[in-house]
Amino acid sequence: MTSLAAILVLASFALINNLGIMAQIKNDQIVAQEAYQLFSNIIREGGHLGLEECRKQFKNEIWNCSLNHKHIHKQLPIFVKTTLPYANRETAFVHAISTAAITHKITTKCKQGKIPGCNCAVIKKSHKPGDDWQWGGCSDNIRFGEKVTKRFIDSLEKGNDARGAFNLHNNEVGRKVVRSSTKRECKCHGMTGSCSLKTCWKELGPMKTVGSRLKQIYHSAARVLFENDQLKERINRQLRVVSSKEKKLVYLDVSPNYCLRNDTFGSPGMRGRTCRGDEAPLSKCRSLCERCGLQHHTVEKYKQIKCKCKFVWCCSVKCETCTSRYSLTTCTR
Ligand SMILES: *[C@@H]1O[C@H](CO)[C@@H](O)[C@H](O)[C@H]1NC(C)=O
Ligand SMILES: *[C@@H]1O[C@H](CO)[C@@H](O)[C@H](O)[C@H]1NC(C)=O
Repeated sequence: MTSLAAILVLASFALINNLGIMAQIKNDQIVAQEAYQLFSNIIREGGHLGLEECRKQFKNEIWNCSLNHKHIHKQLPIFVKTTLPYANRETAFVHAISTAAITHKITTKCKQGKIPGCNCAVIKKSHKPGDDWQWGGCSDNIRFGEKVTKRFIDSLEKGNDARGAFNLHNNEVGRKVVRSSTKRECKCHGMTGSCSLKTCWKELGPMKTVGSRLKQIYHSAARVLFENDQLKERINRQLRVVSSKEKKLVYLDVSPNYCLRNDTFGSPGMRGRTCRGDEAPLSKCRSLCERCGLQHHTVEKYKQIKCKCKFVWCCSVKCETCTSRYSLTTCTR
């Protein structure tokens, strides 16, 4: 990291810690202010990206990523508010996906040249003899993204308690999943089609991949307790330490029954919930209601879609509008 980037990060870090107490910043106040603006905007965008992905992933589940607005941060790391009162499996997921999305956003902005001083990562590893490619081009600087989220988000934790450890652990899982989503992309050079020289770089996987991986991890989350400054999982009466190296979400509290409306939790309950047949199989829509002991009511709906698209020389695509039918299932008492 160049010194400018380092200053930017440190300055905004200090600002966030003091939320608004500008006078305490010893560095150039203007730099600090700009850095604060820059990073808080990116983090806000990242927070929205995380929430959006959470909603997509859980759209047709009983818990559909609904949160009580009271627990959503107004200014900064959108909804990674550490006071979300229950440290359950869903809160763990929210932490992980928020951190993942913010890491993703910062890394992407860096690549787009929107963060002064942050550049592409240069991969120094030499390629093995026999490989027909070499590192080159602009690799995503995921280390920078990780560093910034650590500074911003992890620094919201104070004190070494169960809740702090829960938040930090799940944030780290989010970063790990982003890291493991990176893939090698390559490009051929040389005479047309010859591919005599191939350069490759590392690229982040799309947020959708990160989201679905995190959802799998959510399903196998472990209930833990906090003892001697460590998170421990109970397995056959034995306590096992869950290390920060594991890609495993942890939770402290049991989830509420999301079938029921509970305003404290921001849980709207399943009565009146709708599920579209064009987004999920009808059987899945019905089972959503049944699993909550509710009846279901299905009606036919129509929507307009583009169809019979034709390529028109040159160069546009012309479509007609067709009517398409889908079912809409509502959970009722
Ligand atoms: C909401 O859930 C909390 C935690 O389980 C519980 O204490 C509270 O009684 C619930 N409120 C309602 C209205 O069911
Ligand atoms: C979640 O379900 C409730 C109804 O149970 C609905 O009002 C809300 O819009 C849904 N949220 C999302 C993100 O789909």
